[in-house]
Amino acid sequence: MPALIHLPKILDDRGNLSFIEEQNHVPFTIKRVYWIYDVPGGEFRGSHAFRETEELIVALSGSFDVVLHDGTQEHRFHLNRSYNGVYIPKMVWRKLENFSTNSLALILASTEYEEQDYIRDFDYFLKSKA
Ligand code: TYD
Repeated sequence: MPALIHLPKILDDRGNLSFIEEQNHVPFTIKRVYWIYDVPGGEFRGSHAFRETEELIVALSGSFDVVLHDGTQEHRFHLNRSYNGVYIPKMVWRKLENFSTNSLALILASTEYEEQDYIRDFDYFLKSKA
């Protein structure tokens, strides 16, 4: 199931601090880290599913929506705090949209990049889930 994950936050007058530990906060082994930035207004990213890859997405800066479809229903997570993350299991359709100015999406992934892991056809995805 997709889930909102609350990461630790150390509040401090000098500025706040959050962190991610693989064993404690991520339900998979991290094989890759990538980030999405400089997204022009109105653009979206993603709109695909992964056969095997699981991900954790964090809005390190700014805000955006993570829109997920599990084959039956849609879930929308609005990320606007850097101490929250969305866990996305494999075989969930995902789209990132409504990026604010200067937003920065950090993505932890359970696999190395492989184009064959992508499902980019929504109808094919729905049939695969049926
Ligand atoms: P893609 O995952 O399709 O972008 P998004 O889903 O965020 O819209 O990736 C865009 C391009 O970047 C594509 O040509 C593959 C490449 N890419 C890598 O080389 N390595 C990576 O880890 C990722 C995520 C993408």
